[in-house]
Amino acid sequence: MIFKGFSNINDLGKYVAEEFKNVINSKDVPVIGLATGSSPESTYANLIELYKNKQVSFKNTITYNLDEYLNLKEKYNYNSYVNFMNETLFNHIDINKKNTHFPCKYTDVVDLERKYDEYDKQILESRGLDILILGIGNNGHIGFNEPGSPLDSKTRIVELDESTRIANSRFFDNEVSNVPTHAVSMGLDTIMKAKKIILVVKGNAKKEVYEKLKQAKEFDINLPCSCLANHIDTTIVYLKDEMQD
Ligand code: F6R
Repeated sequence: MIFKGFSNINDLGKYVAEEFKNVINSKDVPVIGLATGSSPESTYANLIELYKNKQVSFKNTITYNLDEYLNLKEKYNYNSYVNFMNETLFNHIDINKKNTHFPCKYTDVVDLERKYDEYDKQILESRGLDILILGIGNNGHIGFNEPGSPLDSKTRIVELDESTRIANSRFFDNEVSNVPTHAVSMGLDTIMKAKKIILVVKGNAKKEVYEKLKQAKEFDINLPCSCLANHIDTTIVYLKDEMQD
């Protein structure tokens, strides 16, 4: 893992967007993995700028998002991750929406018997993720791989941690019970197969988990992000003042 600190969020977003641009421009059919939430927003804003300045085109790009809520209450449909991606990135670039993928529909009911690992096969058939952007939860989750997620986990239904639901309640009228209980997430195995990973650490509340990640030498099932210690090409980007680093 390489750590890179930035003085402001736009510089951070610019750096990550450049990395995406370089990968996209080097492939005939780029395959990219995407996250939602606050952490990737500055990257997406910078990718839109690069597209407007004709430095990158997404015409042939295939995307796979990390996760999607299950059984989202109708009132909060706007919080679906597909909606987030459309509004934050896809509606502003030349991507073909048919090439954008999510591991489930946010209207799917929670059926614990149902498998979602077709998504992994689909990713493999696309030749795997060339680059993947990740955020990190206060508890060290990546995607929605909460503590306890095994290293060989595939795309599957996950139960959200109470701490994750509390953190995300800011989008649900600050009421935890409005936040879905389950989601479908790419597994750690799927994530680790990405050729290049950039993890964005954003928010003062991430300081503790950032310190733990810096110390990580091997996979600890209680700290899902620690798997990245064994990934061949991972860069962790953060804001210097937030991490006091
Ligand atoms: C979202 C995702 C999550 C978030 C994490 C941080 O697709 O996979 O792991 O990246 O919960 O969320 P923010 O960026 O909102 O602090």
